[in-house]
Amino acid sequence: MRAVLLIAGLAAFGAAALLLAGCQQDPVSPPVLKITEHAEAANPNAGLSSERFIGDAPRVEVTGYPDRPRFYALARTPAIEKFPCTRCHTMPLEKMRTAAGAPRRAHWDVTLEHAPAAVMTCATCHSPEAPNSLRTLQQQPVDFDHSYQVCAQCHNRQASDWSAGAHGKRVGGWAPPRVVYPCAQCHNPHHPRWETRWPAVGGRQQ
Ligand code: HEC
Ligand code: HEC
Ligand code: HEC
Ligand code: HEC
Repeated sequence: MRAVLLIAGLAAFGAAALLLAGCQQDPVSPPVLKITEHAEAANPNAGLSSERFIGDAPRVEVTGYPDRPRFYALARTPAIEKFPCTRCHTMPLEKMRTAAGAPRRAHWDVTLEHAPAAVMTCATCHSPEAPNSLRTLQQQPVDFDHSYQVCAQCHNRQASDWSAGAHGKRVGGWAPPRVVYPCAQCHNPHHPRWETRWPAVGGRQQ
């Protein structure tokens, strides 16, 4: 009876079923039975998880890619030393600014070498009124932990590749949950280009 049921179930698998049907005389060996049970379990990944390799680094669920299976990006705010920005930005920017020509009073280390000045200024991504979040070209606020949404507006192709796992880096193992580096983990948004470098040659590097 069990063998009949088994064959009926396996028929759906086409060619694979033919192979297995050859073994139906013998009682099903435990490993095959186990695999079948796992395949039918509610968790399609048979209970495998990358969780212990990812550790407890804070992460956020990536939004805006409804066609992709759910995935996560490491949170950036814990890594941004000057966050929250409102520690200093307690008044309108005009009042904080030094007079034109005078040395800057903050962010000496931030210089924009990204796109031509006609295309991009600080205010393209930062909101002078609400410095604790970024913003889109349509002035919609974007959390620093979701800064990939800001990049994706202009770098649609790379962002799409990234959402599919073809650009960037995945953390942990191949089992779920899928957690990736956000764009800002690798690219400094203020000068995002990578230096040109020679490929490493084993044993011959200086
Ligand atoms: C330690 C204090 C401090 C912190 C923290 C701080 N800022 Fe500022 N920020 C300033 C001051 C002061 C200025 C005005 C600088 C000037 O023009 O002399 C400024 C200016 C700016 C400007 C305008 C620069 C320009 O040239 O137009 C931007 C944009 C900005 N800050 C973004 C941020 C963001 C985003 C954060 C948080 C991630 C942040 N700041 C955190 C002190 C701070
Ligand atoms: C292309 C979008 C973009 C532009 C243009 C831009 N920023 Fe940023 N900025 C970001 C993002 C994204 C972060 C968060 C980076 C991270 O996650 O580490 C950030 C972080 C910062 C920070 C906090 C980290 C730090 O380096 O101190 C400051 C301050 C800041 N920006 C100031 C500025 C100023 C001033 C300008 C103009 C000269 C500017 N930004 C232009 C996207 C931008
Ligand atoms: C408003 C549109 C805009 C936004 C937003 C934007 N970029 Fe860019 N980005 C550009 C332009 C324009 C260039 C210059 C392209 C060129 O020189 O050919 C550029 C250049 C780059 C480059 C170098 C490309 C190359 O071919 O070497 C990288 C990397 C990059 N951006 C990453 C980012 C990241 C990461 C973010 C988000 C923090 C971001 N960009 C946000 C418009 C944008
Ligand atoms: C794991 C690190 C990493 C992450 C995460 C990452 N990039 Fe890159 N990106 C790279 C490297 C490495 C290159 C190649 C640089 C080179 O060839 O000079 C690159 C190249 C680029 C370029 C240049 C054009 C190209 O396709 O080669 C753009 C634009 C860019 N990335 C945007 C993004 C955006 C937008 C995101 C987030 C959606 C992102 N990157 C996430 C590492 C990363």
